[in-house]
Amino acid sequence: MELYDVMRSTFAAREFTADPLPDDVLGKILDHARFAPSGGNRQGWKVVVVRDQKTKDALAALSGIAAKRYAAQAANGESPWNAIDPPGVDAATIEKTVAPTRLTEPIAKAPVVLVLCVDLKVVASIDQDLKRVGVVSGASIYPFAWNILMGARHEGFGGTITTLAIAQEPKIQELLGLPKHVAVCSVMPLGRPAQSLTKLKRKPVSEFAMQERWGGPPLSWT
Ligand SMILES: Cc1cc2nc3c(=O)[nH]c(=O)nc-3n(C[C@H](O)[C@H](O)[C@H](O)COP(=O)(O)O)c2cc1C
Repeated sequence: MELYDVMRSTFAAREFTADPLPDDVLGKILDHARFAPSGGNRQGWKVVVVRDQKTKDALAALSGIAAKRYAAQAANGESPWNAIDPPGVDAATIEKTVAPTRLTEPIAKAPVVLVLCVDLKVVASIDQDLKRVGVVSGASIYPFAWNILMGARHEGFGGTITTLAIAQEPKIQELLGLPKHVAVCSVMPLGRPAQSLTKLKRKPVSEFAMQERWGGPPLSWT
């Protein structure tokens, strides 16, 4: 596929056909994805390839826990799990909220689930002393994650970066035998998409690119 077509059409695939994603295709995708950038070119990524149904079910169930709060906050008109505003829903409301199946089933049903991890011993987390949630560390792993999804798209496969299970990271570390300094970055279901989304909903450039300073005139380019 042409690069811009891949960029504009790589959607979050959550439903898959029964087709397998063979190791040779997966290996090829990872072989291209590894050219992603990372801070200092440290390449701290590790990938656990999960095909065992019991492990997939466990990862789906772990996603369901954070999905309850996600759904409860969304139903309350909030931006779920944001680190600025405390949740406007109480623990009892979250507890009785049903986790939406679209947030758990893809992990249980995909032919393969990649658990993308990063070795925090090699990541320069430049914002670690700021009084806000860290964002820089993720930049050493998510370009790699995105390369996997673009590569998968190119090969006729698809998947989704999912993160809900990470709220239960110690349990994932136990499940997969990960060392404590290895963080989980995504639980990524992959397979042959059951259908293809062709028109993705995204904001236009003028809504997020501004000139010279925050609130400056929008970049106009057309
Ligand atoms: C950092 C990140 C975390 C995400 N976490 C989840 C998740 O936990 N579960 C899920 O189903 N999708 C998750 N997504 C997928 C987004 O919902 C999806 O990329 C977005 O809605 C755009 O979908 P589209 O490309 O199909 O339009 C995540 C995406 C990103 C980039």
